[in-house]
Amino acid sequence: MNKKVFIVTGGSSGIGLSCIQKLSEDKQNHVISYSRSKVKTERAAKSMGTIPDNVEFYYGDVRKEEDCKALAEYIGRKHGKVYGLVHAAGVLTKGGIENIPFQDWKFNLDINLNGPYLLTQQLLPYLKAAQGASIVNISSIAAQRPGSSIAYSVSKAGLDMLTEFLAGDLAPYKIRVNSVNPGFVTTHIHLDNKIVENQEDYKKMVEKVKKRYPLQRVGKPEDIADMVLYLLSDKANWITGSIFKIDGGALIDNDLLPPKNKI
Ligand SMILES: NC(=O)c1ccc[n+]([C@@H]2O[C@H](COP(=O)([O-])OP(=O)(O)OC[C@H]3O[C@@H](n4cnc5c(N)ncnc54)[C@H](OP(=O)(O)O)[C@@H]3O)[C@@H](O)[C@H]2O)c1
Repeated sequence: MNKKVFIVTGGSSGIGLSCIQKLSEDKQNHVISYSRSKVKTERAAKSMGTIPDNVEFYYGDVRKEEDCKALAEYIGRKHGKVYGLVHAAGVLTKGGIENIPFQDWKFNLDINLNGPYLLTQQLLPYLKAAQGASIVNISSIAAQRPGSSIAYSVSKAGLDMLTEFLAGDLAPYKIRVNSVNPGFVTTHIHLDNKIVENQEDYKKMVEKVKKRYPLQRVGKPEDIADMVLYLLSDKANWITGSIFKIDGGALIDNDLLPPKNKI
């Protein structure tokens, strides 16, 4: 029996990696990670112990049309259908308009927003062929409130609109498109993107952030991956064009919370 193919961009780290691990538990799935660096893949392999047989690491950059085309051609030759596509690749550059040079603004927009557009477009024939595919965009609560980065917030707000637009565009092909908006999740994103300089500062940041979250903890990659797997599954086959916050209550209006929850 042919395996069901799932592609996860950014599958070498954090939320994408958790999606890869969970998807690979079903041996009927063939799971492809799409990201740039071998170093991060090796880090992922180390954290997994052994790489499951049904997981494949494919190297490419979501910003590059030739890379996305090459992946699509590979899928066409080898598999023909894509049942699920998760856009988890992402970067974060801190600051407002006075701190973020145009080049860094473009870097965030290119990876977080243009990447999902480009790769989805290239993979469309194979998503259509699955006759019931599901796309999940990993956005952020920063899409809903200005966060610590103008470029990141705008890219994620764009991604949420792309979600809604594509849901309408692709519904005739039975392709569902949804978005999840995580709050703070412990992954490599903050250290890899130099939001903090070292592990000690990272720990301090986590402690500070979790006090602001009503559930008094930050997220784990699995908190997000569980929702992604649900949205990829047939159980969610009447859900499209929806945007789901997964944030430990971070965006609840704090004025409405009982005083004990306030800091
Ligand atoms: N962690 C959080 O607090 C948080 C909160 C809300 C939303 N999110 C979103 O969740 C998603 C996953 O983030 P994470 O926290 O898991 O980050 P992460 O641990 O830093 O992982 C990011 C992944 O994206 C890949 N990537 C980056 N640029 C790429 C490119 N041009 N082409 C292909 N792959 C690329 C990275 O691999 P390479 O660098 O090797 O390419 C890596 O695999 C992101 O979209 C992020 O914005 C995260």
